[in-house]
Amino acid sequence: MRFKNEDIDKVIGQLDIVEVVGEVVELKKTGMNYKGLCPFHKDTNPSFMVSSSKNIYKCFVCGAGGNAIKFYMDYNKLTYGESIYELGKKYNLNIAPVKSGQSQTINKKYYKILEEALLFFSENIFTNSGREALEYLNKRGMKPDFIRENKLGYAPNSWNSLYDYLIKKGYEPEVLSLLGLIKKSEKGYYDTFRDRIIFPIYSPNGDVIAFGGRTMSDRKDIAKYLNSPETPVFHKGRNLYGIKNRGSNVRRKNYALLMEGYMDVLAAHSYGFDVALAPLGTAFSTDQAELLKRYTSNVIIAFDMDNAGRVASEKAALVLKKYGFNIRVLELKNAKDPDEFLKKYGKSEFLKSVKNSKEIFDFFYEYYVKEYDLSNPMAKQNFIIRFKEFFMSVETELEKSLYLDKLSVSLDVGKELLKDILISKNKVIEYTKMEVKPPSTNQIKINELELETLKLSLKKRKYYKSFKNKTILSKLVLDIFRVIEENENKNYIRELLQGKYFKLEDDEEEILLNISTELSSKSQEEVENNYIEVYKRWFNKEIEEKMMYYKDEKKIFLYLECKKIYEIINNDRKKEELEESYEKFMSMKV
Ligand code: UTP
Ligand code: MN
Repeated sequence: MRFKNEDIDKVIGQLDIVEVVGEVVELKKTGMNYKGLCPFHKDTNPSFMVSSSKNIYKCFVCGAGGNAIKFYMDYNKLTYGESIYELGKKYNLNIAPVKSGQSQTINKKYYKILEEALLFFSENIFTNSGREALEYLNKRGMKPDFIRENKLGYAPNSWNSLYDYLIKKGYEPEVLSLLGLIKKSEKGYYDTFRDRIIFPIYSPNGDVIAFGGRTMSDRKDIAKYLNSPETPVFHKGRNLYGIKNRGSNVRRKNYALLMEGYMDVLAAHSYGFDVALAPLGTAFSTDQAELLKRYTSNVIIAFDMDNAGRVASEKAALVLKKYGFNIRVLELKNAKDPDEFLKKYGKSEFLKSVKNSKEIFDFFYEYYVKEYDLSNPMAKQNFIIRFKEFFMSVETELEKSLYLDKLSVSLDVGKELLKDILISKNKVIEYTKMEVKPPSTNQIKINELELETLKLSLKKRKYYKSFKNKTILSKLVLDIFRVIEENENKNYIRELLQGKYFKLEDDEEEILLNISTELSSKSQEEVENNYIEVYKRWFNKEIEEKMMYYKDEKKIFLYLECKKIYEIINNDRKKEELEESYEKFMSMKV
C-alpha cells in the first residue's frame, strides 16, 4: 500500500502523538513533555519520552523514536503503508492509498506502445533504409541472427517516421512524448531518435521500457549515445542494461559481470557471458546495487581500462561493498574495454582474465599504492587513511578483520593500530579534512550543494520549506530565500531577473538564467529525484557534524545512534525512509 506524500504529511501533521501513544502507554506529564515506560524494551524506569510540541517520541535507553506513524508501525508490527491506512481510518483523516492496480493498467498501456516502437525500429534495420546500420553492426561483429534475437534496431534518418507510424496506430502525441519517443518544438513534434542504431532497454520483468541510440558517425559534436529520458516507466538509476530472462542467468551462474556500456554488454552476451550488465550511462547507484542483490552477491567489475574506468570501478565497488557483495575487478591487458578484448583475444582468454580477476581489496591496494611513496612515513600514513572509506563500506566484523590482517602484513604495521585508525576512529576525522574550504581568494559565489538547493527551492515551495532551515552560507541564496519566504509566487525566477526584489550582479543573473533553462528541461520525476539527492546530502552533512560533536564530547551512545542512522540513510534512498530517519535524527536533540 502506498500513499501520496502529501497524504503522509497530512497524517503526520494531524495526528497528535500524545493521543496515539497514550492509547497504549501510560503517560505522565513532566514539564513540556510526557514520560512513560518504553514499550519497545523491558523498561523499569520511565525512559520513554513523548514531545507534543515536536510531535515525536523517543526512548533514551533503547533508542526507539520517531513520529506517530513510526510508533504505530513498530508497536503493531505493521508496514509503513498499513500504519498510515489504519491511522487514517482510526482518526478520520481523509486519505486513500494510491491505487496500484490503476497505475499498473497505465503502465501496461505504456509497455504496449514501447513494444510497438521496438517493432518499428527492429524491422527497419532489415529494410533498405537500415542497410548502413546493419553493415555497421556487422562490422562490429554482430551478425543478423544476433541482431534479430536481441531486437537491435534502426531509427531512420527522418524527423517523423516513428511519429507517423504510431499516430496511425491511434496513439496520442502526448503519451508518445511522455514516453520520450518524440519531442515537442515550436514547429510541432519530432522523433527523438533519428539515424541511430537502437538498443532496447528492458525492465527486470522483461518489458521494454526505454531505448538507447548510437550514432554511426564519429562527429565530435553529436552525442555518441542518446538515451530515453526519465519517464513513468524508466528510471535509469534504477535499471541495469542487459538483464535477461528476469535475471535468471545471473541467479543460476551466481555472479554478474558489471560493464560500462551497451557494446560491452552485447559483445559479452554474444560470447556466451550472458551475465554481463551495465549501469545506463550513470554512476552505479545504490538502487542498482539493491536490484542486483536480488540475483546474486558476486560481482566482477569489468569497466574500461582507462583512468575514468578505474575511478568508476572504485566508486561502484564502494557502493557494492555496502550491500555486502563479494567483488572482484577484471583487468584486461592490451584492450580498452571488454568488447575490444573479446574480439581481439576471444572467449577463453576472457575467461582466464575472469579467473585472474583481483579481489577488491587487492585492487584497491594496487590502485592506491601507485599514488604513495611508502618509504616516506607521512605518505604511508596517508596511504592507510585512503582505506577508510573502504573499511566503512565493509559490512561484517569478520571481513573487516580479515582485510585488516592483509593490510597489516603488507604494510608491516600492527593490526591494532590499523584498526584504531581505520575502524574505531571512523570517518569523522577524514570528513573534517575533506570539508576544508578552498582558499577564499578563489571567490566562489555559491557552492554546489547550495546551488542545487536553490534550484529546487525556486521550483517548489514545498522544497523551499524543507531546506529553509539549513545552514546556508551564500548570500544570494539567503536573499532569495527571504524573497520566497515573504512572497507567495509562481514565477520567482522571472521576477528576480527583472530586478523586482533586489538588484542582481552579473554573475548572479547568469546563475539564475542557467537555473531557469535547467529547470524547464527537467521532468517532475527528475526534479523529485534531485530533491531526494539534495535532501540526503544535507542530511549527511548534518549528521556527520553531529557525529563529530558527540565524538568530541565522548557521548558514545549518541554517537553510535547517529552512526546507525548514518548507515541507514546511506543504504536507502526511499524518500519516506529518509524523512523518517531524519525525524529520528532530529529527535535526538531532545
Ligand atoms: P562508451 O563510450 O564506452 O560506449 O560509453 P560503448 O558502449 O563502449 O560503445 P562503443 O564501443 O564506443 O560503441 C559507455 C556508456 O556510457 C553511456 C552509454 O551507456 C555507453 O554505453 N554513454 C556514453 C552515453 O549515455 N552517452 C554518450 O554520449 C556516451
Ligand atoms: Mn566503451
